[in-house]
Amino acid sequence: MSYACSVERLADRLGRPIRDLRISITDRCNFRCVYCMPKEVFGRDYPFLPRAELLTFEEIERLARIFAGLGVEKIRITGGEPLVRRDVETLVAMLARISGLDLTLTTNGALLAQKAQGLKDAGLDRITVSLDSLDDEVFRAMNDVDFPVDRVLAGIDAALAAGLGPVKVNVVVKRGLNEDGVLPLARAFRGTGVVVRFIEYMDVGHTNGWRLDDVVPAREIVAAIDAEHPLEPVESAYRGEVANRWRYRDGSGEIGVIASVTQPFCGDCTRARLSADGHLYTCLFAVRGHDLRALVRGGASDEELTAAIGAVWNARTDRYSELRSAETADLPKVEMSYIGG
Ligand code: GTP
Ligand code: 5AD
Ligand code: SF4
Ligand code: SF4
Repeated sequence: MSYACSVERLADRLGRPIRDLRISITDRCNFRCVYCMPKEVFGRDYPFLPRAELLTFEEIERLARIFAGLGVEKIRITGGEPLVRRDVETLVAMLARISGLDLTLTTNGALLAQKAQGLKDAGLDRITVSLDSLDDEVFRAMNDVDFPVDRVLAGIDAALAAGLGPVKVNVVVKRGLNEDGVLPLARAFRGTGVVVRFIEYMDVGHTNGWRLDDVVPAREIVAAIDAEHPLEPVESAYRGEVANRWRYRDGSGEIGVIASVTQPFCGDCTRARLSADGHLYTCLFAVRGHDLRALVRGGASDEELTAAIGAVWNARTDRYSELRSAETADLPKVEMSYIGG
């Protein structure tokens, strides 16, 4: 099989091409969000990956180039918290040299105020910041390391000043925990150019004790905001966009909702995920990944890696969110902090 031929034909068993690659560069995080890395599980003795198990920057860059050759157009750097990996700017600069890519990163914002300009200078195109509440008390309780909300807001300001826009803010909404904060978040960012996206709380991993009752349906969120500031739907920016977009009728900006529980979007899912230790996952809810690191460190050529990734993608049938049910709830799954969301 020639290289060019495999590029043309890369589609999974449900006809979906590969367009996005999410690269987790560390499984560590400086937060302990209650819905993601609860302290009881991710405590002092938690066995995070030792450094030697992480892909090096050179290995990440090499794989990213191969994925780009297979059709990937967007790379998102994730974690854990990606900004805790030393010299992340160097990796950004290496990835920015791959032409034709939209290069972006999802962060909790804790280190963003001091890092935004350096990331921009290194070639990052834009950034997404997770921020679950503007209420300092609620925010400190949700990140569970008593981190103040002001410093994340300063990080968002620094990203805007550095030109890392359009900046998006991700809000995971959990019933009874931060749902009261939805309207204040929408109000605060309306008219600023920052796009707030409200995410339905998902049953990722095994440690967050997810229940369907904890999910605030996206349509409820849209209705609440629409009642205060009328909204109208916006077309997706590209096939496979996970957020449903809505704009304020008065022209003061837009919001998004990510309804992966109540309105799954597997049919257009073009995302591959690379874990920090070099395993390829074809679904956020996958049970296991394919060990690309073993191939890389075993001396595989670019052609061999291309063929191996192509074979995994061609065989892909994942559509977990569409199948989600009482039976799937107990299946083994990887943790969000390992695979990067
Ligand atoms: P843009 O490039 O700005 O469109 O962003 P994105 O939607 O790819 O970005 P982001 O990483 O911010 O995704 C937002 C959230 O949506 C993630 O943190 C997940 O919670 C959820 N999400 C993203 N991709 C998937 C997916 O493939 N499946 C499911 N079920 N949820 C996803
Ligand atoms: N459900 C939905 N989103 C989640 N995230 C982490 N855990 C969950 C979950 N259980 C989000 C974070 C961040 C992104 C990386 O994933 O808030 O925006
Ligand atoms: Fe919170 Fe993101 Fe860290 Fe998970 S990886 S604990 S969601 S900041
Ligand atoms: Fe894609 Fe899996 Fe999410 Fe469905 S559940 S959208 S297949 S990552």
